[in-house]
Amino acid sequence: MRVSVIGTGYLGAVHAAGMAELGFETVGIDVDEAKVALLSEGKAPFFEPGLEPLLGKHIGEGGRLRFTTDFSAAADAEVHFLCIGTPQTPGSDAADLTYVESAVRALGEQLKGRTTLVAGKSTVPVGTAARLQEMLHEIAGPGVELAWNPEFLREGFAVEDTLRPDRLVFGVASEAAETKLREVYAQTISTGTPVVVSDYATAELVKVSANAFLATKISFINAMSEVCDLAGGDVTVLADAIGFDERIGRKFLNAGIGFGGGCLPKDIRAFRARAIELGAGESFEFLGEIDKINLSRRAKVVSMAEGLLGDLTGRKVAVFGASFKPKSDDVRDSPALDVARRMHEAGAEVRIYDPVAAVPGKRSRPELTFVDSAVEAATDAELVLHLTEWPEFREIDAAELAKVVAAPNVIDARNCLDREAWKAAGWTYRGLGVS
Ligand code: UDX
Repeated sequence: MRVSVIGTGYLGAVHAAGMAELGFETVGIDVDEAKVALLSEGKAPFFEPGLEPLLGKHIGEGGRLRFTTDFSAAADAEVHFLCIGTPQTPGSDAADLTYVESAVRALGEQLKGRTTLVAGKSTVPVGTAARLQEMLHEIAGPGVELAWNPEFLREGFAVEDTLRPDRLVFGVASEAAETKLREVYAQTISTGTPVVVSDYATAELVKVSANAFLATKISFINAMSEVCDLAGGDVTVLADAIGFDERIGRKFLNAGIGFGGGCLPKDIRAFRARAIELGAGESFEFLGEIDKINLSRRAKVVSMAEGLLGDLTGRKVAVFGASFKPKSDDVRDSPALDVARRMHEAGAEVRIYDPVAAVPGKRSRPELTFVDSAVEAATDAELVLHLTEWPEFREIDAAELAKVVAAPNVIDARNCLDREAWKAAGWTYRGLGVS
């Protein structure tokens, strides 16, 4: 079977490689020439563990995977996956659907008169699929059917989540569409992955409600960490204890500087904007609070730094971590970079080290200084901020690091350094809700 993947960002590039791995003749299509050129050489345009080996395996002579900017390459595919980004609209909370719509138009032009399935994977406001189905019928004719097939991949685990998802959701308007999707995912289904079949609206809502729920868990535990700080409790022990309750679960209860990245923040805002549009705004006011709690964590770290150092003007501060989470070089809405920027704005001299995200010249911010190692960042610093929990930061020898700093102060904004070891090495340790 031939498949096409429209859009080769985080989702599309990994999905295309995954489809080739599952045995399909796959073409990935994007308007971005530079991205297509990189992918065609087997290079990932972003850091994602396991992606380059897959690209290398399937691209080239006799391979099943290719990338192009030419939409006509989609014409003879049986299934087309829409993997177009839906960023936040500038100046508004709503999702910007212009990219999705123009891709659907371009694809529709290639599919005129054909009988084929388009499977939408982008995160969209509920109601979008029905509208896109109408658009496709108008442009390409009644044979082009749309299904909504959201993805739940996590950056850093995207390949694994694509090849071994924990569930498949098929939002369909006909049995034929369901049958086709079952054929595409037959290998995955044969390993026991549950399939949920629904209408379009439910499938669209599954994705946004999953992200809203995850964001809620994080902001809940972060709010609890504030109370722990004030009352003298330990939010990590609290999370362990409530997490034993299977109805709650321990995952996504790590307090810290909160969530960021290209999905959770913009998805909860877009979901709330859509709920307001639909007349359910009052019931989703809490999502605005979830967002606020999340953003307040960033200011909290800066005020903790002021608590330790006083005026930040001219104070040397080391920042460990720039990406929004480990195993990713994604700095979109990164809490770590935001805190670094706020520290810089408060007058501190900030030096940042990240194992992959803060390579000088690449994705860096001109106003921030990136260095090549944790030790280099910490040398002569009066404060170390641990902002993204890369495993290598946990392995740092606190006693050795104490020798290079000007003052041994550390704020562990992810609550995952070995507190006792750092304290024993002479550090003034502060966590969020654990001190
Ligand atoms: C998320 C969803 O998990 C995924 O299902 C969806 O498809 C896309 O959005 P991702 O953005 O890759 O995936 O990251 P995720 O692992 O969910 O982490 C999101 C943010 O929450 C990160 O900034 C992370 O540091 C933060 N987080 C996560 C916490 O602060 N505490 C936690 O306990 C868990």
